[in-house]
Amino acid sequence: MTTPTALPAWNALQAHWQEIAGQHLRDWFAADPQRCQRFSLRWGDILFDYSKHRITDKTQGLLLQLAQQSGLAARIEAMFGGEKINITEDRAVLHVALRNRSDRPIYVDGEDVMPAVRRVLTQMRRFSEQVRGGQWRGFTGRPITDVVNIGIGGSDLGPRMVTTALTPYHKEDLRVHYVANVDEADLIETLKGLDQETTLFLVVSKTFTTQETMTNARSARDWLLTAAGGDETAIARHFVAVSTNRHAVQAFGIDPDNMFEFWDWVGGRYSLWSAVGLSIALAVGMDRFEELLQGAFEMDEHFRTTPFSRNLPVIMGLLGIWYANFFGAESHAVLPYDQYLRHFPDHLQQLDMESNGKRVDLEGRVVDYATGPIVWGQTGTNGQHSFFQLLHQSTHLVPCDFLVAAHSHHELGDHHRILVANCLAQAEALMRGRTFEEARAELEAEGVPEDRLDLLAAAKTFPGNRPSSLFLYPKLTPRILGSLIACYEHKVFVQGAIWNINSFDQMGVELGKQLARRILPELEGGQIGEHDASTRALIEAYRHWQTR
Ligand code: F6P
Repeated sequence: MTTPTALPAWNALQAHWQEIAGQHLRDWFAADPQRCQRFSLRWGDILFDYSKHRITDKTQGLLLQLAQQSGLAARIEAMFGGEKINITEDRAVLHVALRNRSDRPIYVDGEDVMPAVRRVLTQMRRFSEQVRGGQWRGFTGRPITDVVNIGIGGSDLGPRMVTTALTPYHKEDLRVHYVANVDEADLIETLKGLDQETTLFLVVSKTFTTQETMTNARSARDWLLTAAGGDETAIARHFVAVSTNRHAVQAFGIDPDNMFEFWDWVGGRYSLWSAVGLSIALAVGMDRFEELLQGAFEMDEHFRTTPFSRNLPVIMGLLGIWYANFFGAESHAVLPYDQYLRHFPDHLQQLDMESNGKRVDLEGRVVDYATGPIVWGQTGTNGQHSFFQLLHQSTHLVPCDFLVAAHSHHELGDHHRILVANCLAQAEALMRGRTFEEARAELEAEGVPEDRLDLLAAAKTFPGNRPSSLFLYPKLTPRILGSLIACYEHKVFVQGAIWNINSFDQMGVELGKQLARRILPELEGGQIGEHDASTRALIEAYRHWQTR
């Protein structure tokens, strides 16, 4: 396995960057009427325009060489082939099996995992139909009106994002809620107004040991039992579990018949396609959930079989590398112009940053090149009135992804057209900018006094040349959404492969968890162990406030 910086294409890209760093996208567009055609991909119903990127044919060629030289093709094959590419945890990485809609078997340790995947999908269908159809009853015989998903990280963000994104497909009389934070405010506020007799809890945890989830689940169980007069048989009607840990599920008191299994080859942040997505299936029905899987499967096939030069996730991944490693961009903004996609940036934050926020390579060497970017963002147009100022005129270069549908799920006056116009305008403004001369001429035409012209023109100058991609699709359907999410998953994979890091462990979350376990009894009044002076003083201050 090779360090990317030692690859010939890496050096060539460095030299090439020197050639083009001073050139402007505006001039490239002016010189080349075909630029958009050459740097865009039409895949099914999705149009991916990446022409507003600081790339030329030569850049694209060199980036594609980098992908080839880094052995990306073999890495893709290894993932789809069930090899244990998560080497630190000695696990296969097979979220693609969860949405494999073909007859193709997928093997882990010589065993085809597809029968188990299909069995759980059938179990999800049966259960979700019972709940949605009102046959699943609470302990007093009433049908379920509210579902509360208790989970955190991948057991929350993915399902929460998809459920929100697919709001127009929801069953109206079944509300789905999410509780993640161990801060009791999350659970308390969610339970306000809910009725124990008609509330169903999904306890979703791969390990079934996560402190936040288990604490919330225990408090939810107490809330139920208060209403059920302590009758523990009520638990079976109101609690189901999604986990890989059957033993812990049973120990919690959940009937194993009410457990939905998944497997250690599904990473938390890649798990919404498994029974972790049960809340999605309850909200939109199993047919819609399977459409979501279908969309992801189609993207998997595209990723697996399409030459890199026309491969959407490969192109996206390479563009990210171009900015992170050659332009020194440290962050990446995701800007869905869709209120239903308001949790999309949150999901991508975990997906990308927990996967590629790494500092050692596959051989344990500390890397001397940038890896995963800081991913952030929020919906347009809201972001325009917040941080877009920085995107347009700051000293930072932030590559952006815009996402927008041609059709809304609603028809309310001009709203959607205004939304789309803003989305396209922002991408255009970032690319074109406005020169000092243009700004000055506009001000002059407005009659601004001569002595103010230069100052105001400087403030109103936009450098432009700020890169962005834009996804345009007809409508945010379950299938399109499935494809988009899978596309981002594979983009993260491409980058991890080129950076030669393990995108599938998350050791960086462990240390804080360990220390919290030590500090907890100290906050309760136990003997304070060894800490730095700052932590000790804070523990003492906390204890002081407990006595007042
Ligand atoms: O944040 C660390 C992490 O392990 C994530 O990767 C995972 O999605 C989350 O915690 C929740 O874990 P679990 O599903 O085991 O409760």
